[in-house]
Amino acid sequence: MERHTSAATARDDNPDPNVVEISLRAAPTELEYVPGRRTQAWAYNGAVPGPMIRAKVGDEIVVHFSNGLPEATTIHWHGLRVPASMDGTAMMQDPVQPGSTFDYRFTALDAGTFWYHPHMHSDVQVDKGLYGTIVVDDPSAPAVPAVVDEMVVLDDVHLDGPSSGSPMGMGRMSMGQDGDFVLVNGARANVEISVRAGEMRRWRIVNTANARFFRLALSGGTMLRIGGDAGLLAQPEPVSEMLLVNGQRADVLVYVNQPKTTAVLQALPYDRGMGSMGGMGRMGGMGSMGGMGRMGTISSEIIDLVRMVANGDPIARPGILPERLRTVSAAAQAVRARSFRLGARMSPSGWTFSINGSVWPNVPLVESSLGDTETWQVVNETGMDHPFHLHGFFFWVRGRQEWMDTVNVPASATVELQPYFDARPGAAGSWMYHCHILEHAEGGMMGEVRVR
Ligand code: C2O
Ligand code: CU
Repeated sequence: MERHTSAATARDDNPDPNVVEISLRAAPTELEYVPGRRTQAWAYNGAVPGPMIRAKVGDEIVVHFSNGLPEATTIHWHGLRVPASMDGTAMMQDPVQPGSTFDYRFTALDAGTFWYHPHMHSDVQVDKGLYGTIVVDDPSAPAVPAVVDEMVVLDDVHLDGPSSGSPMGMGRMSMGQDGDFVLVNGARANVEISVRAGEMRRWRIVNTANARFFRLALSGGTMLRIGGDAGLLAQPEPVSEMLLVNGQRADVLVYVNQPKTTAVLQALPYDRGMGSMGGMGRMGGMGSMGGMGRMGTISSEIIDLVRMVANGDPIARPGILPERLRTVSAAAQAVRARSFRLGARMSPSGWTFSINGSVWPNVPLVESSLGDTETWQVVNETGMDHPFHLHGFFFWVRGRQEWMDTVNVPASATVELQPYFDARPGAAGSWMYHCHILEHAEGGMMGEVRVR
């Protein structure tokens, strides 16, 4: 396996082919993301990303979790329709204290690409390296002519040490900072792989960064998007570029067009709006290290993430990709409409973030009923983008004609989404919705929907 392929798959300790039973331990560890630069990280089973959990639709997943961290934690299964009691928020479970254990148990209901991460103190815990991926396969899905099916997990980090560009804590107090180095599967970008021209690879791209948006393009190659947060799309769509915000996933097929050329997966510049808020935003350059880093929120340079170098003979032609991948139906008629106004305010103690004028945990409870579809108007009253995420249920995004669990709400824009509160076993309970820039969530932009 090449270096950029995903972290090892978690060891399945259960011989039953329909049960995936694994052990995860969160603990401090020392890593060298950049050779010669040791960094204190927190990791699942010692690796960043943590082990990939691979299952098929209908499997039972059992995770024996133990907490070796110096503080309490939980695990949230981002995008999976788990029972509310397994969702990993402090509303639904007692936090797992240092030295304690908890067993998570749920059924994989949907095929697709998902991920897991803590849901306590998440701006710090996820940033320190606690995240891993989950792939659920559907054996009846149409075959995709890819030679490999691999993860491309995107993150960024601040490194320890005196030469670090980031005064500790700067990111925490502010509005969500991009790290100094961009990581691809836990290794410093830009990683190189050798391929043959025309050879299709399936990349499941996940943005696990706290705050950095990835506006992705494949220069010199072809990229087709075949899936998103909620699994396969109805049909493949060619992409020249796509924005992957925090928490989102993209399932793509990529290939190099011409022999003896190189295609590069790049992150293009993107301004998620903090610069325009004045003050805190634009600090690019200050102590930043060698190009990769940005202290501010405007990623103004192109960052090469993965280079696909095509050597040898081309493959005769890319395999046949089905024209239709599956049937996707739109949301049902909504029975209720609500609106959520996203706000931000600078105070002497730093930024606070709000929903309908209130700061979590004082955001008024939303109550919904199992089986209902609702319309949520998310109105961004701030000058920066907010990736809006709902736990436990997918929503239909009208503008995109797609089911998602995380959608960007651009600065000063409104996005209409339609959550479907499906009445599966265990779905009754409390679920969170929040901005997935984790500093914003922890800074108050978070709410609870109680479904019964
Ligand atoms: Cu990945 Cu509450 O989020
Ligand atoms: Cu936000």
